[in-house]
Amino acid sequence: MMKAARYRAYDETVDLTRFKELLLRSCGHSFENEREQALFSGVSRRMEARGLGEEYDAYLFLLLRDADELLRLTELLTVNETYFFREPDHLNFMVETLIPALISVRRTQPVRIVSAGCSTGEEPYSIAIMLRERFGSECERLFAITGVDIDSAAIGVARQGVYGSTSFRAMDQALLNRYFVQQEPGRFKVTDTVSKLVHFEMVNLLGTSYPSCMQAPDIILYRNVSIYFPGQVQRDIFGRLADLLVDGGCLLVGASETIHHDVGILSLVKQNALFFYRKTPPLIFEERRTLSRHGSTPERLQSGSVKKTSAQRPVALHQAAAERPRTPSNATPVPDIKVCFDEAVALAHNNEHDRSLVLLDDIISRDNGFEKAYSLKGSLLLGMGRFDEARSVCEGILGRDPLCLEAYLMLGMIARQYGDNDDAFKRFREALYLSPTCWLANFYSGEILYAQQAWKRARGSFESALKILESGSLKAHGQTFFPLTFNAEQFVIICRHKLSLLATQK
Ligand SMILES: C[S@@+](CC[C@H](N)C(=O)[O-])C[C@H]1O[C@@H](n2cnc3c(N)ncnc32)[C@H](O)[C@@H]1O
Repeated sequence: MMKAARYRAYDETVDLTRFKELLLRSCGHSFENEREQALFSGVSRRMEARGLGEEYDAYLFLLLRDADELLRLTELLTVNETYFFREPDHLNFMVETLIPALISVRRTQPVRIVSAGCSTGEEPYSIAIMLRERFGSECERLFAITGVDIDSAAIGVARQGVYGSTSFRAMDQALLNRYFVQQEPGRFKVTDTVSKLVHFEMVNLLGTSYPSCMQAPDIILYRNVSIYFPGQVQRDIFGRLADLLVDGGCLLVGASETIHHDVGILSLVKQNALFFYRKTPPLIFEERRTLSRHGSTPERLQSGSVKKTSAQRPVALHQAAAERPRTPSNATPVPDIKVCFDEAVALAHNNEHDRSLVLLDDIISRDNGFEKAYSLKGSLLLGMGRFDEARSVCEGILGRDPLCLEAYLMLGMIARQYGDNDDAFKRFREALYLSPTCWLANFYSGEILYAQQAWKRARGSFESALKILESGSLKAHGQTFFPLTFNAEQFVIICRHKLSLLATQK
């Protein structure tokens, strides 16, 4: 339950726009529609505490210059609902499967686990209890568990470790007896055996940096936090958490949050009937120029080893190109435009997106008809979350070539990022008009129809996507849309998952 909810009836004549903007920027929360009431109550409550009567402008001004006050308001608005052993399937999977695999290869360093958005601490303490049950006193050597939350009051409760009955609603009585001591009737304090395994820190996941206790985790639990963030913030925080993970590390989200994080940042994996995300080497921007439908270079490149070599090759040409004066001098030979494009692909593949973009702009300034450069630029900007720029590149492509399938797909994905499902649906329809066997457009149409509860049509779209994906090689399907590359296997998993959910819908 939101702490400030129902405190005071919402006066709709009060303009909350600037409060909403401030909170979206500072903590990532959106207070549209039904959450406006909570915002109004929280603001009213803090204004009363600060003796500001009805002076909304004065309170906004105070929030802008007083970080502590902003924190107090944020604390009133966060939803801290949590309890021990919540959604236990992922916890069991982590303790029984993921962690034994990690410690079998780990010699000296502890396995690092972060609970991001841990609220009052029940989630990290549940993990500590489970690990203690399985690994006994070795736990202190084997594990480092960190819980972080934006809400300093919640972190205060977590550090104290004293809980009432609602926190124990899903907990086994034997574990309660073993790991808690009664403080007063109905209140229990976690024992040192467990509390010394967990460290708590106040952290804003949208803040500029994360503390050292969050760095290089093997596992991040990020459960029931993102539901309050709008799409762009979800993507931003998910990307930052993914960056923190060690290679091969796992990120677990809540059951209802799985699919909307499948935005190509981490690999979605299904194991033991559970979905989770794993950090694997990037799959995007493989060398696939043979598949380009608009490229002017028909040459065939080797796959596999060449892909690796190009990613690891020192990139010097692009520097020459990026630093070259716009009017070529006799002293500096201008690299061939196709060679430059190869370099831009290699840089993109090497995750050096900014440098790739510099090189692509150089290519475009030399040959504004080199369509592959625009497509790569659009998909890089899309991957970097620079959606407005990506959109204008795609619109430019369509201005020159109204039959470019990739541009429609990218525009559809951008519209989805902005939450504009109508526009996204229109774009995916356009893509299907151009290419009825475009599995990606069928898939995303299915996602949109599913969200709109148009069950029958969603089923049709997922079935079409699955049928196409199941015919032919998944690798080739994943590479159909140059320069975007997808892990088609993950899409097969999601299609099947969605169809199984749709089986019970009329
Ligand atoms: C519903 S609780 C989830 C607790 C626990 N993960 C679970 O699944 O039971 C969501 C928590 O996310 C925290 N939170 C929301 N926005 C945050 C942000 N920007 N940075 C860090 N924590 C945030 C809230 O304060 C709240 O305690």
